[in-house]
Order: sequence, then structure tokens, then C-alpha cells
Amino acid sequence: MLYENTTVKNGRLQFAGRDTVKLAEKYGTPLYLMDEAKLRANCRTYVNAMAEHFEKAIPLYASKALSCKRIYEIVAEEGMGADVVSAGELYIAKKANFPMEKIFFHGNSKPESEIEYAVECGIGYFVIDNPEELDAVNDIAGRHSVKQKAILRLTPGIDPHTFAAVSTGKVDSKFGVAIATGQAEEFLKAALSKENIEVCGYHAHVGSQVFESTVFYDEADIMIEFVARMREKLGYTAGIVNLGGGYGVRYTESDPHVDIADELRKVSEHIKSACEKYDVPMPCVIVEPGRSIVANAGMTLYTVQAVKNIPEYKNYVLIDGGMTDNPRYALYRSSYTVMLANKADKAGELEYTIGGRCCESGDMIQENVKLPTPEKGDTLAVLTTGAYNYSMSSNYNAVPRPPIVMVDGENDYVAVRRETFEDLAARDM
Ligand code: LLP
Repeated sequence: MLYENTTVKNGRLQFAGRDTVKLAEKYGTPLYLMDEAKLRANCRTYVNAMAEHFEKAIPLYASKALSCKRIYEIVAEEGMGADVVSAGELYIAKKANFPMEKIFFHGNSKPESEIEYAVECGIGYFVIDNPEELDAVNDIAGRHSVKQKAILRLTPGIDPHTFAAVSTGKVDSKFGVAIATGQAEEFLKAALSKENIEVCGYHAHVGSQVFESTVFYDEADIMIEFVARMREKLGYTAGIVNLGGGYGVRYTESDPHVDIADELRKVSEHIKSACEKYDVPMPCVIVEPGRSIVANAGMTLYTVQAVKNIPEYKNYVLIDGGMTDNPRYALYRSSYTVMLANKADKAGELEYTIGGRCCESGDMIQENVKLPTPEKGDTLAVLTTGAYNYSMSSNYNAVPRPPIVMVDGENDYVAVRRETFEDLAARDM
């Protein structure tokens, strides 16, 4: 099995030690399940490794991966800060009583109203993306008599070789300001001249679903070299270096396993030697994982509605959800492990395409997966859906979003209730 929290008992798929078919019966489908113990363990891996290997470090949860009150509560209890990319995520975090001083506000195109809201909330840090935002944060902070802490988003010029849509660190990126073109230096100069901004350091993010720490070594080298160069040129030594998120998770058996604690140890050694090489003090290091915190703590359950065999062409299993709750195959052709939860001990026979319920041919969850003979009423499980599923879900075809049910040992509870038809029409005037 992909992870230790998925097992098979009496022919049925178990998740976090619980019978998935029973959970599907209890809560209905489609259903997002989250394994609370796994989620907490994933947080602790980062918290403990960062504490062990770095003099000063802040692990942040990149909440774009999954943003709901309960997740913010758990992440805060586990001692992580959070990165938000919108006032909406910030609002949910605030509702969960997330400590505002541990919030980092990202985003490459922040509306002024959202900047204002974040300053009013008293968030810890802005991650300032561009000169226009710099001016806006300075003005708004001034109006609120605040000296706003901020770090600057830089573009290190690294291509992590993951899927293009999730790669963000290349020079031509829409995120941040490029080091290679000299613009980052100008950006820093401007930031240092702002009365209402305390420049605390730099941020970069190279990509997502990354399995190779060498990407982070290259990034750290470029960042530390920039720290050294700016100290020499402008007399400014950055106290924070934020390396972004990005460690990959196993969606299928062929994906490698990443030992995050060990990778962080290696990254820390790399940064230490870069600091020695350039003779700069070890900064406070931040990482901001999203996927590797929530992905493997999640699973989605569906009910099979129909099976279509088109002889010599294709076989479909049609489910009661699809791109509305998981658009990642439609968008990125992302791989997933798919199983029939009530036939989990049976061998796969034919290959099937998992078709969603939306009126769109591209609405698929996966193609060509081997399954034991499926029938209407079977429970279909898609593994590793905790990241970028709920947070990217939509109401296309006016399909209500599934609930998120947390499984915690013997306990299970609704963290986000199922959307209702009333919810769908609630904003219509
Ligand atoms: N920090 C920044 C600035 C980011 O842009 C991201 C992700 C993260 C941290 C977290 O990265 P992670 O640890 O989750 O890889 N929707 C895509 C993923 C987009 C990632 C965007 N940025 C997907 O479904 O694969």
C-alpha cells in the first residue's frame, strides 16, 4: 500500500484504521476523509526536524493546499505558522483563532483592500511580490501607524522540472522579482527606503511535487549569495531566508518516498556551508510545505453510478463526483491510486477510466486503471487527495461540494459540512 494509514481488512479498504465503506455509508458520498493523526504527524515531522537542524527556523503550513478552520486549528496546535495567499484564507485562519503574528501573506497580485485587511488583522509578515505592492503596503501600514514586517519575494531562476503549471521559480515567472536581471537589487533598495516597512529577508519558491533536494540546494546557494552580495553593496544583512514549499508525495507506487526529516537535515547542512562560504550569519530559515502536510492525510470516496464497456474502445466507471471535487487530472493529468474500497482484496481485471459526473468529456479522475469488475453501488476510493482537492473544488454544474470528515482513532467528525442546494442559491438575488 502507498501509506501505512491505508490497509485492507476483510476485503475492505481501511483508512486510519477505519472501514471506508462504513464511513461512506455513514456520511454519504462523495466524501473527503482526513486522517487527523497522519496530519499531525506530518506537521511534527517538519516542526521537529526544523528545530533539530536549524538554529532558528519557522515551519509554515502553505494553506492553499487545504484551507478550513479545523486544519488551521490543528496546524496551530502542532506549532506551525501559516502562509495565506488571500484575505479569504486569512479570514478563515482568523475564524479559527490562528495566531496572527504567525501568518505570512503571499500572493503576486494582492488587492489593496486585502492588504488593508491583513494590516488590520495584525499579521506577522507580508511576502511582498512587486514594487507596486511595496508602495501599497507602505502607504497602508503608514495610515494604520504600523511598521509592517515583510520579506521580499525573489525569483531565483530555477526550473525544478516538475509540471510547468506548478513551477514558479524561473526567471520568466509571474511571481516575485528576478535576481538574475538585477531587478531584485532595485526592489530591495526601494524596500529599505520605506518608512513603514521593516525588511526582514527574502523568500523564493521553486515548484511543487519536487522529489530532489538538489533543487533546494541550488535555491539556497542563490539566496545566500544574494544575502552576501546585498550586505556588501547595500549594507543590509537579511535575517530570514524562506525557501518556499514543494516536497512531493507519493500518489502512486512508482513515486519515490521522500524522507522529509532527512532531506531537511541535508538542506540545513547545505545552507550552513553556503553561509560559511559567503561568510554570512546563518539566517532564520523558513519552509512552507502544503502538499506534504495534507495530501497523504486525505482520501476521497465516491459511489459508482454506472459502468460502461465500449468493446475494443474503452471502459468507464462513472462516479458521483469528479472534476468539481478533484480537478487535478483534468488540469495537470495528475496520477492517483484508485481502488474499489469494497473489493480491495480482489485483483484488477480490465482497465477503466474513472469518469466524473460533469457535462464535460475531460471530467476524469484517472485513465486506464486496473480494477476488479466494478458495479453500480461500489465504493470507489481515490487516495492521497488531501492537498489541492477541496481547495480547488468548484460548483460547476451546480454540484455541491462534499464534506470533510476527520477520522481520529475511534472518533470521526464533520470538519466541513456538505454544501446544500440552499448554499448554491444563497447569493442569488
Ligand atoms: N509556498 C509558495 C509560495 C507556493 O506557491 C506554494 C505552492 C507552496 C509554498 C506550497 O507548495 P507545496 O508544498 O504544496 O508543493 N495546484 C497545484 C499546486 C500548486 C502549488 C502552488 N504553490 C497542484 O494541485 O498540484
